[in-house]
Amino acid sequence: MNFSFLLITWQKQYGRHHLPWQVSDPYRVWLSEIMLQQTQVITVLDYYPRFVARFPTVQDLAAAPQDDVLQLWAGLGYYSRARNLHFAAQQVVNDFGGTFPANRVQLESLKGVGRSTAAAICAFAFRLPETILDGNVKRVLCRIFALDGDPSDKAFERDLWAKAESLLPENRADMPAYTQGLMDLGATVCTRSKPRCEVCPMNKMCQALAQDLTAELPRKKAAVAVQQQTLFWLIAQREDGAIWLHKRPQRGIWAGLYCVPTFDSLAQMGEGVTVDELEELPALTHRLTHRLLEIIPYRANTFSGCVNNGIWVLPCDFAAFGMPKPLANLLQNLCTNSVDKGAI
Ligand code: ADE
Repeated sequence: MNFSFLLITWQKQYGRHHLPWQVSDPYRVWLSEIMLQQTQVITVLDYYPRFVARFPTVQDLAAAPQDDVLQLWAGLGYYSRARNLHFAAQQVVNDFGGTFPANRVQLESLKGVGRSTAAAICAFAFRLPETILDGNVKRVLCRIFALDGDPSDKAFERDLWAKAESLLPENRADMPAYTQGLMDLGATVCTRSKPRCEVCPMNKMCQALAQDLTAELPRKKAAVAVQQQTLFWLIAQREDGAIWLHKRPQRGIWAGLYCVPTFDSLAQMGEGVTVDELEELPALTHRLTHRLLEIIPYRANTFSGCVNNGIWVLPCDFAAFGMPKPLANLLQNLCTNSVDKGAI
């Protein structure tokens, strides 16, 4: 039995059919694929409808201020995705007359769109025979065909693309179900640990299963080193409860988000501001892709000397500012408690 036929038949019966981005509008497909790059479906189900309601078309997104885009993205993490998304919307409007190009190579010219994302847009929006190849699909292929290679090896990666392309269905009309089937199989059956081989439509042809290699394949990537970094936050609060925030630079950690003044050392904090009294709050830890942050917040109730350009923001207006998630959580706690106790 042929791979694509088995997959399409399985997807129609057992796959996911009611995801809100299962549409043919390339704008909506693109938006969902960017959100889904590093975020789970359950989280995207929460953010995606708000995003589409605020920016129903690529023109609306392109015309919006960056702050509005980052505000709606706040909490999803990997903020370069939001900045690239905004930039790419402007590319579609300025370079493609407001219409998404219907071919993979031109889609790949959009900022933040790699080959697999471009292929997903081709498949779902235009029914074009292009293959996706994300981490889940690599796992499915490595197992079914017992492909035993180093995932960081460029030649192995090329072989995987070639294998994936060779499996595409003949009929263009099948591209959405086939592509969704690859995603669904990787997400719900051929999972990283404890794959459910007994219900897998590929179990008769799966070479990893036949050779008892499902736990070995795919081979693991060498672990990336996680750097530890300590940051110091200055939480300056005015008598009316407002907090001093500033927009972070466009590069580096939390680029473009609103944040309290952040320092690499206490000494540096002392140079930037004059405060009567600093109260150390319990440290937070926050994991970024390659960094483990230890954040030590300090609270100041008098504050002079402005750190960077910033603004005072009242707690009732926090939601209008895209902030790093650990900061939004901390301020929410502090400000809920300070309502009980009066301003700090
Ligand atoms: N992950 C990436 N793209 C997806 C999609 N379209 N549906 C479900 N999960 C996905």
